[in-house]
Amino acid sequence: MRYTLAFDVYGTLINTEAVLTSIEKLVGNVIAAPFMDTWRDKQLEYSFRRGLMDAYTDFSVCTSNALDYACIKFNTNLSPDQREMLLNEYKTLPAFSDVTKGLEALKSAGHRLFAFSNGSKASVTTLLTTANILHYFEDVVSVEHVKMFKPSPIVYNYLLKTTTSEKSKTYLISSNNFDVIGATVFGMHSVWVKRSKEAIFDPWGVEPTIVIPKITDLAKKL
Ligand code: 2OP
Repeated sequence: MRYTLAFDVYGTLINTEAVLTSIEKLVGNVIAAPFMDTWRDKQLEYSFRRGLMDAYTDFSVCTSNALDYACIKFNTNLSPDQREMLLNEYKTLPAFSDVTKGLEALKSAGHRLFAFSNGSKASVTTLLTTANILHYFEDVVSVEHVKMFKPSPIVYNYLLKTTTSEKSKTYLISSNNFDVIGATVFGMHSVWVKRSKEAIFDPWGVEPTIVIPKITDLAKKL
């Protein structure tokens, strides 16, 4: 069976923790990891809140606002250049080591591959080009066209429409619980890429269709 495979980007294809080294240099080893976690958690929280408020803005604004929150929380004064350097690094993060081989196998199996993200089409295209994986995807689908964020059903519906796909033949692939649960409740199949043994899936009674530790494990499960 030929499926539409919609890949979440940040945290699933792209390793957002790759900024840790730069953060350590700026804020020191002791607070670097909690600083990075606060930055990511707040970035997502801001997208959820903006979705509920119907106050959409480019995801990069959530990212920069969240960075500023982390600086206040950890009493860290970054210079404008240091702040710009971190935000620029976020635009050129690397892919996880399993991604290229995993996408290769799925494309060779005849599936339709899409990148599907809260990020703008332009920023995700830059990100995937820099990570040298853009060529695996038929297209980049961004929520910007419906001015809403994941996990709103509006974005999953847009994904199906813009890729001309049926729910029953579409998988959402993500490391992010909120995305997997949002797509599953919407009625699509879902894959949770459980990249860390310690990762906990939210106890909502909504389960992913497939759970894998790496994207290279997916082709044989479809
Ligand atoms: C995405 O790429 C933020 O990981 C989320 O849509």
